[in-house]
Formats: sequence, structure tokens, C-alpha cells
Amino acid sequence: MCGIIGIASSKLVAQNIIHSLKKLEYRGYDSAGIATIVDNEIHEKKCAGRVDNLEKLLFKNPSKGSLGIGHVRWATHGIPSQLNAHPHSSDEVSVVHNGIIENSTLLKKNLEEKGYKFKSQTDTEVITFLLTDFLKSYDLVDAINKTLKALNGSFALGILFKKYSNIVVGARRGSPLAVGYGPEENYLGSDSYALKSMTNKITYLDDGDVCILTNNKIEFYNSENKKINKKILTLSEDKQFTDKGDYKDFMSKEINEQNITAKTCVKEYVDQLRKDINLYNFPINPKDIEKIVLIGCGTAYHSCITAKYWFEELTNIPIEIDIASEFRYRKINFNNKNLYVFVSQSGETADTYAALDLCKKNNVKTCSIVNVVESSIARSSDFVLPIHAGPEIGVASTKAFIGQMLVLFILAIKISEIRKEINKTDYENKIDDLQKLPDLIKDTINYCQDNTPIIAKDFIKAKGSMFLGRGLSFPIALEGALKLKELSYLHAEGYPAGEMKHGPLALIEEGLPVVILAPKDRYFEKTISNMQEVIARGGKVILITDEDNKIISENVRFTLKIAKTNEYLSPFLMTIPLQLLAYHVAALKNCDIDKPRNLAKSVTVE
Ligand code: AGP
Repeated sequence: MCGIIGIASSKLVAQNIIHSLKKLEYRGYDSAGIATIVDNEIHEKKCAGRVDNLEKLLFKNPSKGSLGIGHVRWATHGIPSQLNAHPHSSDEVSVVHNGIIENSTLLKKNLEEKGYKFKSQTDTEVITFLLTDFLKSYDLVDAINKTLKALNGSFALGILFKKYSNIVVGARRGSPLAVGYGPEENYLGSDSYALKSMTNKITYLDDGDVCILTNNKIEFYNSENKKINKKILTLSEDKQFTDKGDYKDFMSKEINEQNITAKTCVKEYVDQLRKDINLYNFPINPKDIEKIVLIGCGTAYHSCITAKYWFEELTNIPIEIDIASEFRYRKINFNNKNLYVFVSQSGETADTYAALDLCKKNNVKTCSIVNVVESSIARSSDFVLPIHAGPEIGVASTKAFIGQMLVLFILAIKISEIRKEINKTDYENKIDDLQKLPDLIKDTINYCQDNTPIIAKDFIKAKGSMFLGRGLSFPIALEGALKLKELSYLHAEGYPAGEMKHGPLALIEEGLPVVILAPKDRYFEKTISNMQEVIARGGKVILITDEDNKIISENVRFTLKIAKTNEYLSPFLMTIPLQLLAYHVAALKNCDIDKPRNLAKSVTVE
């Protein structure tokens, strides 16, 4: 996803902008650029590829100036190229943009009729010329306001002005944007992670806000052009999470942190002394809830599918799950007795945020399960249940998935207890299970570290692969397939094992790798039968189970025997070999583990 940096300082800014752009690389991008104001002129430099390429450009021809904006672009409109890289500048303004301008075609046509000459294929350049045009007739704040009102769609903007050469302007609608406060300089950034290396004093903009930065003050205006004050937050230090340490990449570090994630999360919500779960001031009495709707994207959506099984087992509440990009356009029969739960690691996913916004507009109760408590989704929901996983830098989500599932599991247990749908003994046994989980995760990581690399080879030459599971293993099969796809760029499909005979069995042929998830749960025998159907057709089966039974391993290519546990906890343990398998296949293919091609860590556009 795109990333924005802006700095208004009393000293040269180019190097600091480059340094901060590198902090945004994890978001995924394909080009980069910078603009500064020098002697009341706009100086712009940009290039395709990595920030390193931009740094080389600046080394040859340094950018002076104590005011600047920078950008890493993830292509939406227009191919990744130097011409389409941001900033987009006229003689009067320079603009960097995250988001999508939906009426850019019409606006571009009107501006071309006025004589403006577009150089790029981007929607962003429309903002540049709109501003330039309004500045001919209006002062700064009115010109900004009229420009923003003309735009349909989402944006986070950083803007420089030749005529106002001591300010950097920011504006937000639908795409996250924050400002940071420093000594003798102030900052604009897409998220706190980019600003953390320069300051821990942060203010988040809300939709409709405009901010004007100089090197010694920041002013805020709301969508009615009124000057407003905004809260300054002090960010916690999480150094231990934002450095790879001895690990080769963030993903291997984050996989190995999963027992810590579980331990931290359990500690946050479980009072071991009182053997009770604490959900603090939950916004709705669980006894009154008529339905729970779980909503997310990608891996976060898979945690929702897993949670559906837990809620159905532990409570009598009807549970619905939905992909956010579907939910936001569905005709929903909202009911204020329902609870709408939004799961999102970043808390900035555009589709999930839009789905939440739709719920807020319909005055229903919302709860978010996020990893970034200062995020837009967290700040917009009635109640937040943090997963406490610490910053997750690898684009492929691992520890956040464990955290999302764990908070959803804890929520299901507590709601069941409040509604008296679980007896005291079972409730306390579940709490004991939560206490055991971190060590089970650690044992499984250690076992799988040694046993997954050899399996990876089978996937490199294969024309695809399948991941099969039943019940609580079905969403984990989906997650395993997603991990392999997004890390190794090889096709993989997650499927309910019971569905194979309804079509996908036709895909099975000699040597096709098929991962079978078969914990010793109520579906075990059925899943093993499905496995035999695959073997009979030449499939190369990788069996992941916690069962010692030697017979089931005949004609199986590999058996991974993970720690034994009960069926409620098996999703946590089944996930780990799949994460490591995807990791090792990607490593064999020399893929970029932390920044897979085409992908972004936080998808802040539709
Ligand atoms: C997970 O490996 C992916 N990177 C992606 O599916 C991610 O889960 C999805 O984009 C949702 O992101 P969020 O949790 O930040 O909302």
C-alpha cells in the first residue's frame, strides 16, 4: 500500500524523508519520490523501484530545502513507472496521495479543457491541477476546501505550495494519516510506524480533517473549515518488535513470537487467580445479543470462520460471517440487538473500515479486534479488543492470526459464561486450556521448524496444491493455502475435505501435493477416508495430525505429528506447520519473504 511522509523543519529534510520512507517499505510498493521547496521553487525527484534507487538519485543530485514530502506508491491507476510515481507537481503545488479518486476521469477531462497538460496515468494528478486552478481565485484554506469537496473517493494527502513555502498540508478522507510533533520540526505520515523513528507524540486525523504544519506548529481544520484541537497521543516503545534481531526476516521472527503473542493475550484477558475472563466494559449485555456478525478480509476473515465454530459450540447465539468487501455492498437487515465484530490486524483495511462505517450509520453496536489500537477501525468502533501481538511487519500475517483467533475464542468463552450456556467446570477447564496454549504453540513451532523444510521441495515443481480439512480445520486449510499463495506465488486451494467428491477430486493426479489436516477430533475418521480417496488417485499426501496411529500413515508422503490437544485448541497448532511450509517453499524460490510481490501489509484502498 502507498505510504506518505511530510516534514516541515528548520533544517534539511531529504535524508529524514528517505529514512522514513524506508520505514514504510513493509506496506508494499513499486515506485518512490520526494519533493522539497528550495528558494520558493518546487524540486521533485522520483523513480520506479525501491527507495534505494531514489536515494542514489539524491546522492548524485542532493535535494536541499527544509520542507518536503515523500511517497512510496502501490499502483492503482497507471502502471508502476517513474512517470506515475508520486509526487505529482505543477509549478504551484506538489501532491502525494494514498487512496482512489473515483471521479478522476471526469475531473481530468474538465481540467484538460482548461488547458492543463497531464503527464501521468494517475488519478492523483487531478488533485495537483485542481488545487493549482483554485489557487488562482481563492486563498489557501478555501482552495484546499474546494478541491477536497470536488473529489469523490478516498484520500490521504501531503501537499507543498510554492506560494506558501513554509507549510506542509495534510488531508484525510478514508485513508489513514497522522502527524508527529518534533523539536523544531513537525511530521506528516501514513501511520505511526513511519513517524516512530522521529517522535512518539502523535495525532491521528479523522475523516474530513485538514492539517497545516510549519516547523513550530500544527493547525487542524474540520470538514466545515473550522479550526479544531486534536488529542496528542504518546506512543509506547515496542523496539523489541520492530527489529529483526537475529532472524533472517520478520516473518520467521513473527512465527517464533507466536507463543509470546498467546501468552501476552491470555495475560491481558484472563485473571488466573479468580479463574475468570475480563472483557472490561463490553458495550452490550451478552444476554441481550440476538446475533453476532463477524467481518474481516483475508487472514482476518479466516479467523472469523474459525470463530464461528467456537461460538456455535459454546453459545446459542446465531453467528454470521462475511467478507468485508461483500458485506459493505450487501442489503443488510440491521438489528440493534446484533453485535457486529470487525477483525483487522492493521485496523486500516479500507473494506473493513467501510463495513464498520456502514454499521455506525445504522446505529448498531460494533466491536473491533485489532492489533493497532490507535487505528481508524479501533477509533471508530464502540469497543476494542486488542490482540496485543506487537507490530507485525511481514506482509503475510502469522502472529496476528493467532492473536485474532485467540481473542475471538476468549470472547466466545466469556459470552457463553455470562449467558450461562457453559457450566462452571467447563468454563474453568477452558481457562486452563488458555493457560496451556502458549507452551503447546512453542512445542509445535520447535517440532515443525525441523520437519517442514524437507516437505517444501514437493511443492516447487508441482502445478498446484490442495489443503483439506473439516470443521475447525477447514478455515485453517484456507489459511494454509493463502500463506502458500502469497509467499511463493504458487497456486494452492483450501477446501472442505467433504466437498472434494463434488468436483475438485478431478484435480487429483499423480504427484499433486495435498495437505490433509486431521487432528483427532469428531471428523477424524471422515477426514482419513477423504485422504484415502486422494491417495488412491495418486495424490502426494502430507498428513498433519496429533494422532499416533501408524496405519493412517501408510502411503502418506509425510506425516507431521504435532502436539496432542483438544479440538478447540487444534486450529492454533494446525496453523503453525502451514505457516512454516509456505515460508520454506518461498525461501526455496528466493521470493521476498517479508514483502511479497503485488501485496501490501495494509490494504487502505478498495
Ligand atoms: C494475510 O496474510 C494477508 N496479508 C491479508 O489477507 C490480510 O489478512 C488482509 O489484507 C486483512 O488485513 P487486516 O487484518 O490488516 O485488516
